[in-house]
Amino acid sequence: MALLELRGIAKHFGAIEALKGVDLSVAAGEVVGLMGDNGAGKSTLVRVIAGNFRPSEGEIRLNGEAKHFHKPVDARAEGIEVVYQDLALCDNLTAAANVFLGRELKRSVGGLKMLDYPAMYARVAELFKELKSETRPRDLVKQMSGGQRQAVAIARTRLAEARIVLMDEPTAAISVRQVAEVLDLIRRLRDQGIAVVLISHRMPDVFEVCNRVVVMRRGLKVADKPVRDTSPEEVTGLITGAIHVA
Ligand SMILES: Nc1ncnc2c1ncn2[C@@H]1O[C@H](COP(=O)(O)OP(=O)(O)OP(=O)(O)O)[C@@H](O)[C@H]1O
Ligand SMILES: [Mg+2]
Repeated sequence: MALLELRGIAKHFGAIEALKGVDLSVAAGEVVGLMGDNGAGKSTLVRVIAGNFRPSEGEIRLNGEAKHFHKPVDARAEGIEVVYQDLALCDNLTAAANVFLGRELKRSVGGLKMLDYPAMYARVAELFKELKSETRPRDLVKQMSGGQRQAVAIARTRLAEARIVLMDEPTAAISVRQVAEVLDLIRRLRDQGIAVVLISHRMPDVFEVCNRVVVMRRGLKVADKPVRDTSPEEVTGLITGAIHVA
């Protein structure tokens, strides 16, 4: 059974039909690349899954059970985490503080609740180690590279014990070396049985790390196939509309 299943998802913004009857299923340990031109509906689809938007029509199922998310915390409670391109990290805080933001560990000292920094640093060091990232828990996020910021955002999803991680253009604004690091992080999530949906405009990234590629065009899903059964040329044709459906 699919971990995540969307059935007939539609989303209207007034007269704009951003999503039209989209079906999608994602299994645990699968990486699905979500591609399409600007305005195709990719981010809207991710926001529906993440509980930012309620679908106008259709159903979201997790392990076969219908779910209704009214706000992002509802989706997070089900193990759905999003890593946005702009990452929404706090620049003036350390990596560890960002990973634990809103879920800080506390300890009692003489009846007073204090933040337990040693425990948080230790846990974040473990998470970075598990992700094989060289990011350090005490470093300030404002001094970090784009790839390290991604590692912080991804460590946050690990802390939350996410089952599904949605990534909206994680490699759009970072250097080639950092892209390789982020793709490695995605592989580690996959190896731990997490389902990943990766929105990307970068064909090499999708072909390198995804099991399946889904192409959206003007709100419609026009292709959904194993990466080994398609090619960058075909996907480009599907994105532009030169190839109608595949
Ligand atoms: N909050 C909103 N209100 C009104 N229209 C919206 C809203 N969010 C998205 N849309 C519209 O929905 C359509 C799909 O947008 P979406 O952001 O999902 O595209 P996308 O595939 O993520 O594109 P990009 O590659 O540029 O990020 C667009 O026509 C967009 O203008
Ligand atoms: Mg988008």
